[in-house]
Amino acid sequence: MIHNGQTVGFSGFTPAGAPKAVPLAIAERAIAAHYAGQEFQIGVLTGASTGPSLDGALSKAQAIKFRTPYQTNADLRDRINAGETRFFDLHLSLMPQVTRYGFLGPVDVAVVEAADLTAGGGIVLTSGVGAAPTFCNMAGKVIVELNRHHPATILGMHDIYEPADPPYRKQIPIYKPSDRIGSPIVTIDPAKIVGVVETDLEDEARGFSEVSPLTESLGYNVAEFLAAQLADGMIPKPFLPIQSGVGDIANSVLGALGSHPGIPPFEMYTEVIQDSVVDLIEQERVTFVSSCSFTVTPPALKRVYDNLKWFRARVVLRPQEISNSPEVIRRLGVISINTAIEVDIFGNVNSTHVMGRKLMNGIGGSGDFTRNAYLSIFTCPSVAKGGKISTIVPLVSHVDHSEHSVQIIATEFGVADLRGKSPFERANEIIDRCAHPEYRELLRSYLTIVKGGHTPHTLSAAFRMHEHFQKTGDMHGCSWDTAV
Ligand code: COA
Repeated sequence: MIHNGQTVGFSGFTPAGAPKAVPLAIAERAIAAHYAGQEFQIGVLTGASTGPSLDGALSKAQAIKFRTPYQTNADLRDRINAGETRFFDLHLSLMPQVTRYGFLGPVDVAVVEAADLTAGGGIVLTSGVGAAPTFCNMAGKVIVELNRHHPATILGMHDIYEPADPPYRKQIPIYKPSDRIGSPIVTIDPAKIVGVVETDLEDEARGFSEVSPLTESLGYNVAEFLAAQLADGMIPKPFLPIQSGVGDIANSVLGALGSHPGIPPFEMYTEVIQDSVVDLIEQERVTFVSSCSFTVTPPALKRVYDNLKWFRARVVLRPQEISNSPEVIRRLGVISINTAIEVDIFGNVNSTHVMGRKLMNGIGGSGDFTRNAYLSIFTCPSVAKGGKISTIVPLVSHVDHSEHSVQIIATEFGVADLRGKSPFERANEIIDRCAHPEYRELLRSYLTIVKGGHTPHTLSAAFRMHEHFQKTGDMHGCSWDTAV
C-alpha cells in the first residue's frame, strides 16, 4: 500500500503515539527493494521526533527521501548532516497548517497509532496527538496501528480541533489551559481505513540522567528568578502557565519550580509532559496541563494509565497546531523555558546548529513559545565539551531566536534579564551574570575592540572564538589581536 516516492504522515509527537510496527515493516520493504536493485524511499512527515522504530529503522534502511519537521535520531542526524537526507526544520505549530495548504505536496498515506477504533471511523489516539488529525484528513489511505499497550479507556484525554483555513479561520476559543473545544476522537471516513495492524508495544521515550549539581543550580536559578518576579508583581497572581522543553535541564528546572516555596501550584500550557510533570501532577503542585504528548518513560506512563481518572481530570492532549498556537500562547501569557546550544552577548539564541553547521535536532516548538510568551527564558550550561566551548559567544553561529524575542538567559551562574536593555547593557548583563568566569574577560574585551555603533560588533572578530575552537579544539587562548 505504500510505494516508492510517496509521502507518509505518521501520528505521534516525540516517540509518544508514534507508530512502531508499520515503519519497521516499511524499513524491511526498503531493504529488500534496495537488495533487488530497486529504488524505495518515502517522504516522512510527523508531529515532531519519533522513536528508533520509525526514524531509526527508516534511516538505517536508507528509506527516507525527505523529512520534516523535527528529529532527534542519531543515525538520521548523521545522514542529514552528510547531505544524504533532505530535512526541513519547521516550527511545530505550522506543520498541520503547511500540510493542509499543500506546501509539502500530497500526503499519500497516514499511519496512525490508536488505542481504540469506533465503527463510525472514530480513532481514539494514544499518548501523543501531533499532526495525526490533519494527516488522517489529508491522506487518501489510513493505516491504523491498534496498540493494546494503551488502554481504550484513555478516551476523553484528547481534544481534537482543527481550525478552518484563511480566509475563514476564527479565533481558537481557549481562555485557560483546561478549556476543551473539540472532540475526544479523530473522525474520518471509515472507507479510508485500508488496514489495521494489531500490536502491543510500549512507547520508546528515553530516560533522564540523574540531576547533576549543574542542572540543579540552573533549575534553582530559574525557580528563584520566577519566585522573585511573582513577589515583585511582575508576574500576576496566582501565577502564569508554564511551557517547558525536554531534556535533563528542563526536567531539573521543572523539579525546582515544583519544590520552590515561593511558587504556588501552577498550570502548564506546553507541548510535552515529561516524567517530572507526572510527579508534580501527583503531588498536586501542577494543577492542570495542556500538552501535545506524554513524553514519559514507560514506568511513568504506567502510573498515568493505572490512575487514568485522576490524570484525565488534569490533562488534555491537543494537536500541535493548538498546543503550540501562537494566538493562544500570547493570550494565556505563557512563561516559556527552553534550552539553547549557544547564546550571544546581545541575546540571540542558537538552538539547532553546532558551530553553525551541524544540525542537532531542530527548532521544535521553541520558536512557537518564545516569540509569543509573556516571559521567554533560555537555559544552558555556561560551557560545553568540558569547558573548551563557551556557550556565551560574541555572535551565535546560527540564529533561531533573535534578540527581539529572547528576554531571560539562565546558566548555572545566574540569570540575565534583558528586558528594556540596550545591546551594550545586555552584553554586560549576560557576561557578568551568565558567562563562565574563565571566559568573562575575553568576552568583555570584545566590547572594546571598536567604539561606536548601536550594537558593538566587530565583523572580522565575531566568530573568532568559534574559529579558535576549530583550529585548536579549545576556545581558551582566543584573542582579538588581529581582528579589526
Ligand atoms: N557548541 C558545541 N556543542 C555544544 C554546544 C556548543 N555551544 N552546546 C552543547 N553542545 C553539545 C553538547 O556537548 C552535546 O554533545 P554530545 O551529544 O556530543 O554530548 C550536545 O550538544 C547536546 O547537548 P546537551 O547538553 O546534551 O543537550 P540537551 O539534551 O540539553 O538539549 C538542545 C539541548 C538545545 C539540543 C535541545 O534542547 C534542543 O534540541 N532544542 C531545540 C528544540 C526545542 O527547544 N524544543 C522545544 C520544546 S520541546
